[in-house]
Amino acid sequence: MDHQDEFSLCESTDAVNRTVNISAYTVNLMKFSKNLKFEGSRATQILRDQHRNTVSLCEAFMENRITLEELLDHVDYSINVHFVLEDTILIPAFAPYLSEFLGFDDPIRVVSGEHVSIKRMYATLLNPVTFEEADEINTDREKHEKAAIIARTMLQHVFREENGLFELAERYMPDRVKGETALALMEGKKSLESRFNSGGR
Ligand SMILES: [Fe+2]
Ligand SMILES: [Fe+2]
Repeated sequence: MDHQDEFSLCESTDAVNRTVNISAYTVNLMKFSKNLKFEGSRATQILRDQHRNTVSLCEAFMENRITLEELLDHVDYSINVHFVLEDTILIPAFAPYLSEFLGFDDPIRVVSGEHVSIKRMYATLLNPVTFEEADEINTDREKHEKAAIIARTMLQHVFREENGLFELAERYMPDRVKGETALALMEGKKSLESRFNSGGR
């Protein structure tokens, strides 16, 4: 089931689907914060530090320890800072080495596709595009269910990067490129955060 299908499930008026709630997800949720180390080379460490924060906030939301607004603020930050750093700095720096050593770039396409899905889910939650969606979105409960799907998707996405793409980057990127990537990430983070904090997107 892709993310759109998951949203469609929540958007259904079927009574059974109405019973889907955050606690249902929590039961099946492995504690990512306890199973990931968030440690790597200088090429990925800035992004892994952000992952640690993402996992902690998404898990807190699933356990009702933070509000919907706090989660959505972080998703907004991730879309406008973290995803951009990955899409425009880490992935382009790493892609040639993945192709050279593995001969395919599926891991990159999967991760980039998830960025697009999460952005779409977030935009739909904030700005329903049809009257039907506008009706659906009216209740806090609907919003919470959709936000829970975003939180769960973010957790799975971080897990896939920490254990998949980033490990490939550690293995195949030459040291020199790792150093250049670390510097570019540092600069990029500074300028994206300053734009984000001033309300620019
Ligand atoms: Fe990502
Ligand atoms: Fe990431």
